[in-house]
Amino acid sequence: MDALYVSDLSKAFGGAKALDDVTVSVEAGEIHGLVGRNGSGKSTLIKILSGYHAPDAWGSFQVAGKAAELPLMPGQPASLGLCFVHQDLGLLNTLSVLENFRVARYKAAPLGRIKWRNERRHAARVLESFGLEVPLDASVGQLAPVDRALVAIARALSDASEHEGGTLVLDEPTSFLPRDGVERLFSGMRRVAAEGLGVVFVSHRLEEILSITDRVTVLRDGRNVATVGTPGLQEDDLIEMILGQKVEESFTSGSGSLGGVKLSIAHLTGPNVHDLSFEVREGEILGLTGLAGMGHEAVVYLAFGAQRASHGSVVLDGREIPAHSISPRAAIKAGIALLPGDRLNSSGVGSLPVSYNVSLPVLNKYFSGGWLREKSEIGEVERLIRGLEVRPPEPTRLLGSLSGGNQQKALLGKWLQTHPKALFLDEPSQGVDVAARKEIFSQVRTLASEGTAIVISSTDWEDLAHVCDRVLIFRYGRIVAEVSGEAVSEDRLIELCYSTSVQGETV
Ligand SMILES: Nc1ncnc2c1ncn2[C@@H]1O[C@H](COP(=O)(O)OP(=O)(O)OP(=O)(O)O)[C@@H](O)[C@H]1O
Ligand SMILES: [Mg+2]
Repeated sequence: MDALYVSDLSKAFGGAKALDDVTVSVEAGEIHGLVGRNGSGKSTLIKILSGYHAPDAWGSFQVAGKAAELPLMPGQPASLGLCFVHQDLGLLNTLSVLENFRVARYKAAPLGRIKWRNERRHAARVLESFGLEVPLDASVGQLAPVDRALVAIARALSDASEHEGGTLVLDEPTSFLPRDGVERLFSGMRRVAAEGLGVVFVSHRLEEILSITDRVTVLRDGRNVATVGTPGLQEDDLIEMILGQKVEESFTSGSGSLGGVKLSIAHLTGPNVHDLSFEVREGEILGLTGLAGMGHEAVVYLAFGAQRASHGSVVLDGREIPAHSISPRAAIKAGIALLPGDRLNSSGVGSLPVSYNVSLPVLNKYFSGGWLREKSEIGEVERLIRGLEVRPPEPTRLLGSLSGGNQQKALLGKWLQTHPKALFLDEPSQGVDVAARKEIFSQVRTLASEGTAIVISSTDWEDLAHVCDRVLIFRYGRIVAEVSGEAVSEDRLIELCYSTSVQGETV
């Protein structure tokens, strides 16, 4: 019996087909991958299953063997046994962790009263089984992005296991997770599948798809390309199905020539970071990594003033900014740009056009005599987003109507064009497809070759290995190892992050 079956699904947005005759079947107990380039229709498919979008046409639709009509009404997906983690997580940031758990549970006690004590016990049990230590009364907006993702996932996993049959659908749950959080998620997914539910898993990290799924469905431009078994499938073959063409030579990393010291961080101290000092040379791409919570992820926020440092300084082109006076404003004025990890919340406005979002930091360039030269602004933005493979490359579209990955790429463009002296990037390839990832890193390399000092904070070791000249590995807020040049490989980074014996070692 299929846990989920939907056939001949079509959906267009203003004439453009997002889904064109798509059929997907997920067996009970199966983990089914859903892959495709940014904008290929994955989230649209999932939003139809959750009742958010109405399809234009469909053939048949069944959950756990029961036929249902589309579009689904509110509450109906849950009662059929469909549970979701959406790409934007779908949490209410102003509510507490406990309240967020409750919002998703549709069963009320008799007379509709909510038994909070039971709810509290239930939520605590779920979080504990997931190894998640967050206070139930904390407001979700104050949690770290990783914890937020894990709360959304734990909530959906617990809803899913309350059902006899049905399907848990996860839309890029791992893009916000550090690498070591992924294993916890996978064991949760396996548990749900072992209970006989179907699991649909969307990810751009193909090694995840290959390691966790039983079968994978590939979408290209809104159409089914193939559904194939994963065991034995080669990554290159999967990439070819996704892109529709043979893979070209992968990343052209090749480091450029390095100049003198451009940026130094001296004795930086703050939450999770102790007396940290390092230098970045002109044209250098430096990676910062470690397991979750080891401090590497805090560095760029402290150095940019987005988080308060208690001690230390940032020196850019010989000019020193003491830690106590670092603020995002001072940092931007000094020539530092930051692409935050949680970009959709902290760096973009979905209800405004792409052009506004992208031009904001350089808007005064387009003013002459008090008028905004909109044509030249829009032309410039179009050139920029085309270069980053944003699809569709239309500056006048609302940012929120682009697919998740395309929003990410547009917001990255916003900072690349400011030609900063130093550029900080937190997880730059999060949510971005294989082809666009290459494009992003080649643009970052170009910026470096023009003299910008670049710092990338990431747990994507494969990406770091491709793009960085040098990588610093963190443990408990300190640098415990450093690799550079030829020695920067994915395996070496994994080894150094997980190894407990590298304390103080410098390679
Ligand atoms: N609300 C909307 N209004 C207009 N167009 C939309 C809307 N939502 C999605 N689209 C378009 O539909 C297409 C499919 O988008 P979708 O979000 O399903 O892609 P995706 O496969 O999930 O991509 P990603 O990997 O980037 O998340 C895209 O071209 C997108 O621009
Ligand atoms: Mg999507």
